[in-house]
Amino acid sequence: MPDYRYLLSEREIPKTWYNVIPDLPAPMSPPLHPGTLQPAGPQDLQAIFPFALIEQEVTTAQNIPIPEPVLDILRMWRPTPLHRALRLEKALGTPAKIFFKNEGVSPAGSHKPNTAIAQAYYNKAAGIKRLTTETGAGQWGSALALGCNVFGMECMVYMVKCSYYQKPHRRTMMECWGAKCVPSPSDLTQAGRTILAEDPETPGSLGIAISEAVEDAATRQDTNYSLGSVLNHVLLHQTVIGQEAIAQMKLAGATPDIVIGCCGGGSNFAGLAFPFVPVKAAGKNIRLIGVEPAACPTMTKGIYAYDFGDKSGMTPLLKMDTLGHDFIPPGIHAGGLRYHGMSPLVSLLHREGVVEAVSYPQLKCFEAALTFARAEGLIVAPETSHAIACVVDEALKAKEEGKEKTILFNLSGHGHFDMAAYEKYFAGELSDYEYPEAKIREALAHLPKAS
Ligand SMILES: Cc1ncc(COP(=O)(O)O)c(C=O)c1O
Repeated sequence: MPDYRYLLSEREIPKTWYNVIPDLPAPMSPPLHPGTLQPAGPQDLQAIFPFALIEQEVTTAQNIPIPEPVLDILRMWRPTPLHRALRLEKALGTPAKIFFKNEGVSPAGSHKPNTAIAQAYYNKAAGIKRLTTETGAGQWGSALALGCNVFGMECMVYMVKCSYYQKPHRRTMMECWGAKCVPSPSDLTQAGRTILAEDPETPGSLGIAISEAVEDAATRQDTNYSLGSVLNHVLLHQTVIGQEAIAQMKLAGATPDIVIGCCGGGSNFAGLAFPFVPVKAAGKNIRLIGVEPAACPTMTKGIYAYDFGDKSGMTPLLKMDTLGHDFIPPGIHAGGLRYHGMSPLVSLLHREGVVEAVSYPQLKCFEAALTFARAEGLIVAPETSHAIACVVDEALKAKEEGKEKTILFNLSGHGHFDMAAYEKYFAGELSDYEYPEAKIREALAHLPKAS
């Protein structure tokens, strides 16, 4: 009988982060200044980020040492277990072997603390006292609240309004770690007040919440801004996941044919998949699949272009797969996947054919999450259910084809604060929503004019 779990000791936490930049098949396009549309230099980012993180955005070093104080905190829950989903395999009757990395075991319940701890550390070391951020589902906000708490900093979280009311306990969780959390758009910032004046009933969006958090940070000396996904340094901090997975798959005597993660801004997917990029480049036939919601189809229906990271056009422009910074996705329950853009690194690898993208409607994702919960016992976050929907499809395809595929996916977070979403699913109150092409075209028409 094979093992259910493959565990590493605390001493085996990776000591460096893996940087995919030197392994990219094409050069990165630089971020552009939002005013001049010229390449942004480090000085343009220093109003809101510490120098160490700006450096990590551009470094071409392959491996970046993880500071000892960061490792010391990561040890509280890392290495995370690698599970073999034997019961799911049985339930699906598939010859595929299914493995997953369980990031739901962190104190905040997802992969997000991997970067929250690192970002809080570097900001504290630079003399910053307070961090602001946005959050969708509340996973990132609670992770940063944890990170700030650990390093004795203040934390201010702008939470997308529809999620704030769907998940009141996430806010309480942030408060437990000493953070302040308000629904966005709020009347605390100019960006929030402008949007509320246009549409007082807006459900909010990550793009709007980012505008508020950036404005707050840019207008206070003691405050910096912290982003939970998208940027290179965030993805870098998540690569502990894939590095551990490679060591654990070795223990299991397996190598993946398919690596799957859900994609909001791309960080949990990249954290698992990027360490496999050099393995793939060396000739191993591995499919790396990012899964997004049909309601916010950034890679599958967006275009690859320069765009703002936020709604108000305050952030530097990034070359990325985007639906346009004006795009306000419907209030689907996977709040963490409602972002108009995709990380520039994931976007580039997608456009170069290294990474594949697929999209799934939410009902199919909830169905897959329940198949998983009833087989494996774990109730996952609605974001994670997107990865599982793809895993189920790939496992059933392997069954049809009679092939012994090995599938590895990232269980990016547990769903213990998402019972309202499951309740709505059981009550038949959730529906699929495919964002209309015309609305996507409209949002794309407002892209900034940068080549
Ligand atoms: C559990 C979970 N998974 C995935 C995501 C999506 O973010 P990313 O694509 O950066 O991993 C989120 C975002 O909040 C999340 O909470």
